[in-house]
Amino acid sequence: MADTLTVTDNRTGKQYEIPIENGAIRAMDLRKIRQSDDDFGLMTYDPAFQNTASCRSRITFIDGDKGILEYRGYPIDQLAANCTFLDTAYLVLFGELPTAEQSATWTQAITSHRRLPSNVKAILEGFYRDAHSMGVFLSTVGALSTDYPDAKHVLDPESRSKQIRRLIAKAPSIGAHVYRHSLGLPYVEPEDDLGYMANFLQMLFRKGDAPFKQQPVLERALEVLFILHADHEQNCSTHAMRGIGSSQADPFSALAGAAAALYGPLHGGANEAVLLMLEEIGSVKNVPAFIAGVKRGDGRRLMGFGHRVYKSYDPRARIIKQTADEVFEVTGRNPLLEIAIELERIALQDEYFVSRKLYPNVDFYSGLIYQAMGFPVGMFPVLFAIPRTVGWLAQWDEMMRDSDQKIARPRQIYIGPPRRDYSKA
Ligand code: CMC
Repeated sequence: MADTLTVTDNRTGKQYEIPIENGAIRAMDLRKIRQSDDDFGLMTYDPAFQNTASCRSRITFIDGDKGILEYRGYPIDQLAANCTFLDTAYLVLFGELPTAEQSATWTQAITSHRRLPSNVKAILEGFYRDAHSMGVFLSTVGALSTDYPDAKHVLDPESRSKQIRRLIAKAPSIGAHVYRHSLGLPYVEPEDDLGYMANFLQMLFRKGDAPFKQQPVLERALEVLFILHADHEQNCSTHAMRGIGSSQADPFSALAGAAAALYGPLHGGANEAVLLMLEEIGSVKNVPAFIAGVKRGDGRRLMGFGHRVYKSYDPRARIIKQTADEVFEVTGRNPLLEIAIELERIALQDEYFVSRKLYPNVDFYSGLIYQAMGFPVGMFPVLFAIPRTVGWLAQWDEMMRDSDQKIARPRQIYIGPPRRDYSKA
């Protein structure tokens, strides 16, 4: 059997044979399906890209029906159980897990880039203390582009690699500064002898000059959460990163745009929205009424449920639920957990959610952990953006190396008024 698709255009009676490769046809092959020589040719109409592959990628594999997530072929649960975040980042970026020597060199490279330039700290000072942390985070990432004009050499792989190291190193420093700024606390500088996560935690939570007391369970929990968030193939923010990057904008500017896409409550802002929803529900006894409202279409969604790709349990949510138990043993149980468990219990057996294949996603339980660790809700999307920096950069670098790619420029179907002549109303 040939790997082709035969299409008959009933307008003309003509037949076309279109190659199928990797389960897809090239949209440009449809362009030759025309009614006449001056016809533009057939297009596809796919709002929200529900059935359009915009790239071929080697980074992340998802099987949404089976609940599978793999980075470079490695199952997410194996990475979460055995790997550090920085080694996962290396895998996502470069395709293989690092050897001990590569891991040490990579860690050293990230460590050496952790400090923020003083002008960027001064910019941060200008934000209101009660400004949303994600707005401050993405503005600060964008501002960094002014410090590194060399970042515009996006066609130079060495320059790209340098910006990647800078961004991965500075994202947690920005996050920690954003957090401390919101509380009016003095910034804490990175400590070179601390690893990625231990340093991040001391930059966030250190009090005065006393050495910061690390809590290994919490450190490991955050490490696992970061591994789970490192990449997720062509989601809304990654699409923004690739789209902005396709115009050859520098990666700091592109990443600020990606973070802006992540900020929305349907994407990475959902972890914050879940917490606000749980607080609003307030008590287990109010759960049935809330679910009934969602089903009636009161303009509410069950936040932290549903996914464009996963039509079964999000494998990340399963791991996060286990992690939550470990964290709560140290911090005490988050009182909102009972409400979340009851929401999940009801939703998983309710026809509305079952028939639409709506399951808990990565954001359903992560906020409960962040809150138990002492983070304010506004920081939750920032804690998503910091590890996702890795995925955004890996996807951007892959795009820059891909000879199939050009500036992203979708088509439209114009449905406005036909040409008309100007006349004053
Ligand atoms: N609560 C109630 N109904 C829902 C929900 C929900 N959370 N999600 C989808 N539906 C319904 C939706 O109303 C629609 O029903 P109908 O067929 O009757 O019109 C059906 O399910 C299909 O939904 P959709 O909007 O076509 O699905 P989508 O693929 O466009 O949206 C989603 C995916 C994640 C935006 C959506 O499920 C949602 O809004 N979830 C809540 C927000 C959320 O948790 N976002 C985090 C996503 S995971 C983290 C990340 O990677 O971004």
